[in-house]
Formats: sequence, structure tokens, C-alpha cells
Amino acid sequence: MIRALRLVFLGPPGAGKGTQAKMLQERFGARQISTGDILRANVAQGTALGMKAKTFMDSGGLVPDDVIVGMTERELTASANSGAKPSFVLDGFPRTVAQAVALDDMLERLAMPLTAVLHFDADRATLVERLAGRWTNPRNGRSYHTTFNPPELAGLDDDDGGPLVQRRDDTLAVVLDRLATYDHNTRPLVDYYAGTGLLRRIAGLGTIDAVTAEVLQALEEPEASQRA
Ligand code: AP5
Ligand code: MG
Repeated sequence: MIRALRLVFLGPPGAGKGTQAKMLQERFGARQISTGDILRANVAQGTALGMKAKTFMDSGGLVPDDVIVGMTERELTASANSGAKPSFVLDGFPRTVAQAVALDDMLERLAMPLTAVLHFDADRATLVERLAGRWTNPRNGRSYHTTFNPPELAGLDDDDGGPLVQRRDDTLAVVLDRLATYDHNTRPLVDYYAGTGLLRRIAGLGTIDAVTAEVLQALEEPEASQRA
């Protein structure tokens, strides 16, 4: 039985990181730490952090490393203080080699080594199609899709019944820029983690349920989860 999960989810926009992170949060209580969701909440609230991040997010670029590293360290420290065996999924962090080095350093200080790095992938046409049809609950980051994962009532979240919105960065032009940013800055992290023994490849092309099955299988492999 899976007891503690300390995971990095790596993968391009639309690969299903958020969808599968929410699944692990619901099934195993592994806390989803989505840097994108935290940034969007800050933008919506008009905080100093949000105002700093907004231009980068709207253009499909990356928010500067120092901003993101400080923000994530606060989240991980809170997790470290929350229980004997904290479980978390880092959804969208790290995204640069500098962030990965900073993460190694902070997890060592917090004595919370990673248990696996899941690399989700899918072809470009699939990613674009998923993002074009995505509707999101801005209150909790949950994503739906008009075709692949529709809500029970169109435009409304199944849980809180509130309105779903389309993300500002899901227009085709910004999606293409986000994919280019991923290829340039983040894909090199696959090599960074390849030598650690933690990397698991998830072919994210199937249905949501098929990808969930792949994720659960990857977490059964040695080192991916800490057992009782
Ligand atoms: P972020 O919010 O992290 O966006 P992203 O990485 O571009 O990824 P997405 O959230 O778009 O995709 P996802 O993989 O979560 O897919 P989802 O599960 O929703 O970051 C946004 C911005 O914030 C960045 O561009 C950057 O500016 C900034 N930022 C964030 N972190 C940063 C960092 N560390 N450093 C610097 N800047 C940072 O699924 C997509 C859709 O497909 C949904 O509609 C879903 O229902 C559907 N779907 C999912 N799986 C399947 C499936 N298997 N089959 C069919 N449909 C599926
Ligand atoms: Mg996401």
C-alpha cells in the first residue's frame, strides 16, 4: 500500500499534470502544490507577487526563478510541519535546472527526499486540443474538458456549483509560446532526473482513466512510494 508520496510532475502544458495531481490528492491525501494555481490566485487577489507574475504568465513565459523558489519553499515548509510523513505532488515545479537544484537543496534541509519524478508526455496536437477545450474552476484549480471530461452541468463545477472559466493563457497563440518555453527551459529536466533512478515515463495519450492507471502502476515501482 502506498504510504508517502513526494512527487514531481514534469510535463508540457495540457499533459494532464493537474488532473492526475488532483486524483492523488483525493485518493491518498498527497497535497497538490501547483505553482500555476498559486500564481493565478495571487493574480486574482492583486497581490505584489501576482502583479509581478502576471506579465510572464500572460505571454507564456516563466516567472523568475527567485520568485518561484521562495514561493515553493514556503509551501514545502508548511507541508514539512504538517505531519510525520508529508505527501505532496509538485505540479509544475521545477521548470528550470536552477529550480531543480534549489529544490534538491530545500528537500535535503527539510529531510523530505523525493520518491519519484513522473514525466508526462503527449504529442503537440493532443496538447493543443486539450487546452482549447479546457474549462477550469478558479477557486480550486479543477479542470474539465468540453469533450473528454465535461461537467454534469455545462459551465458549472460539479463540487461547488460555481462558474467555470477559460484560462487567459489557453488561447492558441499563448499555448504555442508555452509549448516553446517548455521545450527550451523545462524538457532538459528529463535529463537532469534521468540519472537519479526516480524518473518514470507516463505516456499521457490515453483517456484520463487510462493515464490514472499508468500513474498508479508507476507508483508501485520500487522507490516510488514509501511503504509501511
Ligand atoms: P501551469 O498552471 O502549471 O500550466 P502548465 O504547466 O502550462 O500546465 P497546464 O495546467 O496547462 O496543464 P496540465 O498538465 O495541468 O493539464 P490539465 O490536467 O489541466 O503554469 C501556468 C503559468 O504559470 C506558466 O506558463 C508560467 O508562466 C507560470 N509558472 C507556473 N509554474 C512555474 C514555475 N515553476 N516557474 C516559472 N513559472 C511558472 O489537463 C488539460 C486539459 O486536458 C483539461 O481540460 C483536462 O480535463 C484534459 N485532460 C487531462 N488529461 C486528459 C486525458 N488523458 N485525456 C483527455 N483529456 C485530458
Ligand atoms: Mg495544470
